[in-house]
Amino acid sequence: LKEITVSTVTAPRRTKLTSDVVASLIATATRAPSVHNTQPWVFEFADDAIELRADPARGLRVADPSARELIISCGAALATLELAIRGLSLQPRTHLLPDPENPRLLARVRGVPGSPPTKEERRLLHAISRRHTHRAEFDGPAPSAHLIDRLRTAALRYGAHLRVISDAVEIERTLELAWAADKTQRDDITWRAEMARWANKPGVTARDGVPTFAFPAQRQAAAADVLPGREFALGRRSGTGAPAGYGPSALCVLVTDGEGPRHWLRAGAALQYILLTAASNWFFANFATQPLELPETRRALRDAISEPGQVQMLFQLGYSHTAFVTPRRPVREVLGGTTEPSS
Ligand SMILES: Cc1cc2nc3c(=O)[nH]c(=O)nc-3n(C[C@H](O)[C@H](O)[C@H](O)COP(=O)(O)O)c2cc1C
Repeated sequence: LKEITVSTVTAPRRTKLTSDVVASLIATATRAPSVHNTQPWVFEFADDAIELRADPARGLRVADPSARELIISCGAALATLELAIRGLSLQPRTHLLPDPENPRLLARVRGVPGSPPTKEERRLLHAISRRHTHRAEFDGPAPSAHLIDRLRTAALRYGAHLRVISDAVEIERTLELAWAADKTQRDDITWRAEMARWANKPGVTARDGVPTFAFPAQRQAAAADVLPGREFALGRRSGTGAPAGYGPSALCVLVTDGEGPRHWLRAGAALQYILLTAASNWFFANFATQPLELPETRRALRDAISEPGQVQMLFQLGYSHTAFVTPRRPVREVLGGTTEPSS
């Protein structure tokens, strides 16, 4: 990689980024969560800016035909990139969807001279490598009201809303809908085939997809008090992880005011801010997106919790003193043109 310079027309100073720094910013951004660890992003350095593009070859055609989850995943990478830029004492200047002719170009980010990162930003930066999807038991207290307030503020930074579902009837109905959607998907061969594509097999050292240590060997029995874990093992007993979701937690939804790529990008960015704020306190998420992948259960969930906004994510948040970090593709694979899945 050749040396790269970041500059702005209006900034009094020029900030020179070496190719190593650009590579490290991108490596940090790719620590973001993505549906099935598909890592559906491509970065380019062009005209003094880092561009984030969607990689549709990595999309889930069955589960996510509108690319909603793909774009949420990219939004999480965008927030991580912005935070990494703050770590260099630069201020990110982000243009969302800058080219209406090119919807795959999701964001263009420039770094302009700025102040050193705040104490909170430094805490979030440290949490990037610890954050993970927690598909095992939660073993501490449920999140405090104080932490939930901070997570709500984190979501608002990108205009999204975090809501904790605390009413017993709403919790029951939400879990029912999640399990019903999970069953519909498990009973359908096309859904199973797509998931098999991203569930890693024992001994495979893929840099994408869900690794075997992150899911249990057997299908989780339907339970009234946890979200359904995806059945990544698909009857092959390939997982070595623990069943997810048990233990004290808060059941949460992330909500946006509208629908479409701009809202999904902001939802993903808000999600990552929530997750990093939580991880900096050793709280992690266990997701269940199945009910949001079927239009009828997504609508029913919205009704069940009387939510006027658009429900973008559903997850439990709980405490753990361990962190299981999953692999990512190397920067050389995500910098430049689109890539075929490696696993
Ligand atoms: C939009 C989106 C949807 C997701 N849905 C689920 C889900 O339904 N079940 C699940 O176990 N994990 C889900 N995840 C978590 C991903 O599988 C996880 O981020 C990915 O495997 C990378 O692992 P990590 O989060 O531990 O870094 C989702 C993540 C995103 C961003």
